[in-house]
Amino acid sequence: MSGKSLYDGDGTVLRITKHGEKVLKNPSKEIDFESFASDLPELLENMWATMYHANGVGLAAPQIGLNIRLAVIDVRPDGKSERLVLLNPEILSREGSVIEEEGCLSIPGLYAKVKRHQKVRVRAMDENGKAWERTGTGLLARAFEHEVDHLEGKLFIDHLDLVRRLKVAGILKDLKKTWA
Ligand code: NI
Repeated sequence: MSGKSLYDGDGTVLRITKHGEKVLKNPSKEIDFESFASDLPELLENMWATMYHANGVGLAAPQIGLNIRLAVIDVRPDGKSERLVLLNPEILSREGSVIEEEGCLSIPGLYAKVKRHQKVRVRAMDENGKAWERTGTGLLARAFEHEVDHLEGKLFIDHLDLVRRLKVAGILKDLKKTWA
């Protein structure tokens, strides 16, 4: 399934920041919706364009160089697009555990099995400043945790145990040369 075909807006595809850049390590700042509202439509359009262009299922603001608490997700349940805007998201509860392979647009080419929760409840605001809550399972639960992690300055490789992390370190070194 191509993410490109899901996007027909006029947003700009932005450069995605890569592992090793400081912006991905910094904790992001809470957004004051009122003062931010006028910038939000264009910013979101660019995030959607960038995410679909890269065939991702989620994108957080640090991945386009901004340390603000904003992320977008579309895990395409049943192959249909379903856009979620997460402004100032917080995780309310987590349950169960599941190990699945995971990747990240900021570490292209690297995949690893990561233990996450099976069921994750999130509260956030949408693009209109309206609060929403939702319980995600499976891929959506994983996306919730992965994107909120980005806002705390964490990447999926930070969840690996020491042995796996050492293994990944060598692969990362080689991969970094290909990102330029
Ligand atoms: Ni990511």
